Amino acid sequence: MGLRDVPYYEASIGAKVGRTVRVHGLRRPERASGRASNPEDGEWRPIPPGPERRFRRPIVASPVATENRSDTFDIGGELTVNRLGFGAMRLTGEEIIGPPEDEEGAKDVLERARDLGVDFVDTADSYGPAVSERLIGETLDPVEDDVVIATKGGLWRDDRDGSWPSCGQPGYLRNAILGSLDRLGTETIDLYQFHRPDPDVEYTDSIAAFAEFKDEGKVEHVGVSNVSVDQLEEAREVVEIATVQNQYNIGDRDSEEVLEYCENHDIGFIPWAPLGSGELEGLEEVAENHDASSYQIGLAWLLQHSPVMLPIPGTSSVEHLEENVAASEISLSDEEIETIEN
Ligand SMILES: NC(=O)c1ccc[n+]([C@@H]2O[C@H](COP(=O)([O-])OP(=O)(O)OC[C@H]3O[C@@H](n4cnc5c(N)ncnc54)[C@H](OP(=O)(O)O)[C@@H]3O)[C@@H](O)[C@H]2O)c1
Repeated sequence: MGLRDVPYYEASIGAKVGRTVRVHGLRRPERASGRASNPEDGEWRPIPPGPERRFRRPIVASPVATENRSDTFDIGGELTVNRLGFGAMRLTGEEIIGPPEDEEGAKDVLERARDLGVDFVDTADSYGPAVSERLIGETLDPVEDDVVIATKGGLWRDDRDGSWPSCGQPGYLRNAILGSLDRLGTETIDLYQFHRPDPDVEYTDSIAAFAEFKDEGKVEHVGVSNVSVDQLEEAREVVEIATVQNQYNIGDRDSEEVLEYCENHDIGFIPWAPLGSGELEGLEEVAENHDASSYQIGLAWLLQHSPVMLPIPGTSSVEHLEENVAASEISLSDEEIETIEN
């Protein structure tokens, strides 16, 4: 069936970007290896329980959060979004399985994001599974709210060990998209991404299913995730690829080559774990200059680093959301960028 029982991968990327920036070994369910493009690289094993999920509801604006001031990118050359988006994986239960403790709090986060001008929301059918998509479908109206929803198919969850096995069988993907359409309450998904190549299924066979969904009008734009440049090129032979979603942040720039490819072909690059999954640190010196946090500097750096960059910081907290959106107002000097990068 091509279903592989692949437990979590936990990578320790350690201190890797010189003097100022360190991103610690992380306990995140979808953590890919240094080569996120090849899930067969490295060891996969269960991860321990994650941090306690909290939902805060202060709809009191923080001193810095006003609105999303990032500039825009046209996905597939036509779907215009503010480049600073939101990742909705964290709006679920422990280990990204089941509903969150406070569903209303999770919906508050989505509403606040919309109200701040975040019009690009990333999710996947495997987040919950189904929970993140359901909450989005119950909270946001893609048309009235003018929000672009990007979701993904190709992974499933096993709650016995918390693993995220991949399945790129065309029949499975068809079943997956039908569920996503229903939960999101739409007839067309703005951006549908193949979550991760399935080593047991020919990559182009999986991508051909996405091409079919596009032909059938179920999908407006197709994206891929966790890919190498070679895989991206293979996919582009089959269907137009509007975006790539790979792990990328100031502490993990292994996908720089993929990013450059995207820049050269007007493909949106969606860095997952843009905040190092919440463990970004070491940017204090520059952060102090701006009366900001390291997270905000990490996001500001991403936005300035490339015009095709579409960061999707994830949070379950309105307070953190507001801080993250405020990062779109920060402008880093050349000297600061040099300090951060070296
Ligand atoms: N394609 C893939 O394979 C893949 C894999 C993983 C993730 N993703 C996507 O990428 C999105 C982002 O990734 P991610 O959520 O793993 O990592 P992330 O955005 O780098 O970090 C999220 C973590 O940072 C914390 N956080 C957020 N804002 C903060 C702030 N201002 N101050 C302090 N802590 C803060 C959050 O905790 P709180 O909840 O407490 O704020 C959460 O634990 C996901 O939502 C998902 O859509 C895709």
